[in-house]
Amino acid sequence: MGEILTAIGLVRSYDSDGTAYPALRGVELSIQEGEFVAVMGASGCGKSTLLHLVGGIDRPDAGEIRLRGTRVDTLTEGQAAVMRRTDVGYVFQFFNLIGNLTVADNVELPALMAGFSASDARKRRIELLEELGIAEHADKVPGKLSGGQQQRVAIARALIHGPAVLLADEPTGNLDSVASQEVVDLLKRYHNAGQTILMVTHDARVSSAADRVLQMRDGQIVRETYLDKQRDARSLVSNLVQLEV
Ligand SMILES: Nc1ncnc2c1ncn2[C@@H]1O[C@H](COP(=O)(O)OP(=O)(O)O)[C@@H](O)[C@H]1O
Ligand SMILES: [Mg+2]
Repeated sequence: MGEILTAIGLVRSYDSDGTAYPALRGVELSIQEGEFVAVMGASGCGKSTLLHLVGGIDRPDAGEIRLRGTRVDTLTEGQAAVMRRTDVGYVFQFFNLIGNLTVADNVELPALMAGFSASDARKRRIELLEELGIAEHADKVPGKLSGGQQQRVAIARALIHGPAVLLADEPTGNLDSVASQEVVDLLKRYHNAGQTILMVTHDARVSSAADRVLQMRDGQIVRETYLDKQRDARSLVSNLVQLEV
């Protein structure tokens, strides 16, 4: 297992009323292949900005990002689009499914865009929906499903093309506690099968699924905690709650 994702000195500022407001002020990141890393921190501290840069949705003003050794921050717009389709899976707080496509089509679409044949996309979609317990909903539109079910569809969509890294931005932020736990358990299951995951959350219970928790404050990573999975889960959570802001 080697390093799969690296960021060095990431800076990203947004213009607000003519003044540059720094959302990221020099973020360093090093994620090993197969690792599950959670990023915690108060609203506005730069968590989503960090994921956008890593996922090739946005560019840093300064710094470098490497995914599987390839510079992401210097890609052309077209190259970044290819990288997003092939190497990255993205799960969002509000699911972001296409409302007028069936669940099956929502999940198959990124596989087709990544170059899978129609029959391979269909086969993998059927497997994933089975694994995620939503096979019976394949022919429905997402709006007919509960939030937890929609997020499972979004996880299937994010994983179907076998991304190097799964990026999840507050994946449980719009779910009740039961559905949240189900989503966390599913992420853990894919992590145990080898999937590298970088997840943003403000919920200590959710972050306790990770191997390592990074605490962000004002555009910087200010603390790193490795979680000992042998320890009692309750003490783990109470330890993490102290990190919540
Ligand atoms: N597109 C944008 N334009 C201007 N300011 C932005 C934009 N996106 C984020 N910001 C600002 O950058 C800071 C970090 O935002 P964000 O990364 O979304 O934080 P988080 O995900 O931790 O809540 C916030 O102050 C936010 O208002
Ligand atoms: Mg955010």
